[in-house]
Amino acid sequence: MRLLVTGGAGYIGSVVTAELLGAGHQVTVLDDLSTGHADAVPDGAEFVRASITEADPVLAAGEFDAVLHFAAKSLVPESVVAPELYWHNNTVGSLALLDSMRRHDLRTIVFSSTAATYGEPDSVPIEETSPTRPTNPYGASKLAVDHLLTSYAGAHRFSAVSLRYFNVAGARIDGEDPARSLGERHATETHLIPIALQVAAGSRPQLQVNGVHYPTPDGSCVRDYIHVLDLADAHLRALEHAVAHAGGGHLICNLGSGSGSSVREVLDSVRRITGRPTPAVDAPNRPGDPAVLIASNDRAAAELGWRPTRDLDRMVADAWQFYRQHSHD
Ligand code: UFG
Repeated sequence: MRLLVTGGAGYIGSVVTAELLGAGHQVTVLDDLSTGHADAVPDGAEFVRASITEADPVLAAGEFDAVLHFAAKSLVPESVVAPELYWHNNTVGSLALLDSMRRHDLRTIVFSSTAATYGEPDSVPIEETSPTRPTNPYGASKLAVDHLLTSYAGAHRFSAVSLRYFNVAGARIDGEDPARSLGERHATETHLIPIALQVAAGSRPQLQVNGVHYPTPDGSCVRDYIHVLDLADAHLRALEHAVAHAGGGHLICNLGSGSGSSVREVLDSVRRITGRPTPAVDAPNRPGDPAVLIASNDRAAAELGWRPTRDLDRMVADAWQFYRQHSHD
């Protein structure tokens, strides 16, 4: 297929692009490089440096079969202090992209949604039918796009799949050429596993365990971690699903492992895999952090035939290998 990937210079978009190319698809990456890296665009993909509000000429020229839409702002704390960035980029930008698609009679899309659309759950595992009550503008801006897609599927025959990611981690290691490995390289790093690896490597003094009195077995927050390669596999399946259902429909699927790991369990994994001491200190709760977020992945299994296969140690091992290859970037 001929595919447009927005945000293909970012962490998840670049990994999915590499997997799409490996599966024989032709890919054009659209990315404004506001947070992505030009050298993360995999060899073999065409690259257009532009924002999602400027997709029109690319779509006019391309004869695409589908869009995979990753481009977004994704820092929860930033979304609280500068919500306009999130409404403009994530929601208004996605609306512009969908309208460009309509103009060019392209109606097949896979969208990067998020567990943040649910907010604080009443119970876990979280199902797709659980209430959506986002607790920050990031989650709200993504939920708005999910609603947009539902209405465009109904009114304009869009065939859409929204994938609600839980905690994505790991890397795509290229065994032959380390320079072509793909992983997390955020200018502002807020995620647990990359931060813990920086501590293991000695480039940060210690890990702060944000909250140690949660109602969880060891008192630290529990999250559902999912390997970026398992996530990529789900995108290829979602693409097939969307193409097979051309004519209209919107499927929403959680992407998580269905089980949780606490911050302390992640830290244990980092110490085990790296063999480094990795000092940690107890710290206050991070405002807005729910105690436990775990996905039900039954719908992704039933609708997409998807099951994740890579465990937490594999995520940490791949992220560690990537970190050591790229820490001098
Ligand atoms: N944590 C620490 N110390 C750190 C960093 C994180 O203890 O230095 C803890 C957090 O408090 C949290 C857990 O590690 O309990 C995971 O934190 P991350 O920041 O890695 O991930 P979040 O669960 O906060 O965020 C994820 C996604 C977001 C999404 C959010 C809401 O990365 O995109 O879930 O579902 F918005």
